[in-house]
Parts: sequence; C-alpha cells; structure tokens
Amino acid sequence: MAKLAVLVSGTGSILEAMLARRLGVSLVLADRPCRGLDIASRAGIEAMLVKRSTYGAGFDRPAYTREVVAALQARKINLVAMAGFMTIFDQPMFDAYAGRIINTHPSLLPAFKGDHAVRDALAYGVKVTGCTIHVATINLDAGPILAQAAVPVLESDTVETLHERIKQTERRLYPETLQALLAKD
Ligand code: GRF
Repeated sequence: MAKLAVLVSGTGSILEAMLARRLGVSLVLADRPCRGLDIASRAGIEAMLVKRSTYGAGFDRPAYTREVVAALQARKINLVAMAGFMTIFDQPMFDAYAGRIINTHPSLLPAFKGDHAVRDALAYGVKVTGCTIHVATINLDAGPILAQAAVPVLESDTVETLHERIKQTERRLYPETLQALLAKD
C-alpha cells in the first residue's frame, strides 16, 4: 500500500487537484513557507516545513537532502510526488527512493529543462509546449517519462498566461498519472 508525500514550494494548485481527486496524501512537505502548506493544514493533512538555511551560496544540499529523507522515512512514506518543489536533491534521496520520486515539469522534455522552462520555450518561439510527468533521478529533468501533454503557444501569450494554461494541463495529467501508479502498487 503506497504512502504518498507531496513536496511543494509555491501556490500548490497541483496539490489541490490531487486532493480533489482523493489521492490519499499522507504528508505535505515544503522547503519554505507557502500556500501549499496552508492547503494541507486545511485539508487535515500533516504539513511539514523543512526550511532551507539559505537560498543562496553556501546551501548544504547533502545535509538538507538527508533531513528530508529522514522526515519521509520516519513517516514510512514510500512514494514522493514533487509538485512545484524548488529544491534540487542530492544523491541520498535517490538512494532512499529510487524510482519512487515523481515530478511534473512545465515543458515537453527533453526540451527546456530547468527552472525557466516556460520563459525559455516562449523565448525560443516554439508553437507547442506542454508538460511532462516523469520519474525524478539525480540528472535534473532527465528521468523516465510517464506521461506528456501538449499545450499550444498563442501569439498573445506571456510567461504567466502560458504557464497558467500548462498548469491547467498538469492539474489533470499529474493526478491521473499518480492514480494509475497507485492502482498498480
Ligand atoms: C508547475 O508548473 C510545476 O511544473 C512547476 O511549478 C508549478 C507548480 O504550480 N515546477 P503550483 O504551485 O502547483 O500552482
């Protein structure tokens, strides 16, 4: 039986879509204070803040990763869904949860990896972008792809309008993909 944790850093609208689909979330963990934690608390789900010491240079990534892994293991979490989580983990996470960490990325991977996928796609002038649900590995945005959906880019798009349309797609595709995974568990 899967015990699912969702990792967030921001508005948590994808988390909301997961909850609306009754995915059975046992823990919501964030790396900074954010709306995602409030959503979890309101839903009666444990909301845990594992704050980073710094967001700049000097961040101890291995130590932070070990702290998150310990928190997840203490709660017997065995499936981890990153939903707008903005910290990159170090190897201990991928040792502890190999093949069990899922992520959503707002582009059609392998195009436009990294933190600015929507801005980069718009700047490049692509006519179609989208989202990718994939298994997270130590290689950023390069793990096995589980699902993808295309989103057309409109002439009038800004980074904000395009990202919002991509997120509408993520809110459907990510919960669907997780539900299928949970059904097989
Ligand atoms: C999503 O577009 C996700 O792919 C990206 O951050 C966004 C999270 O949105 N990494 P929200 O916080 O769930 O609203």
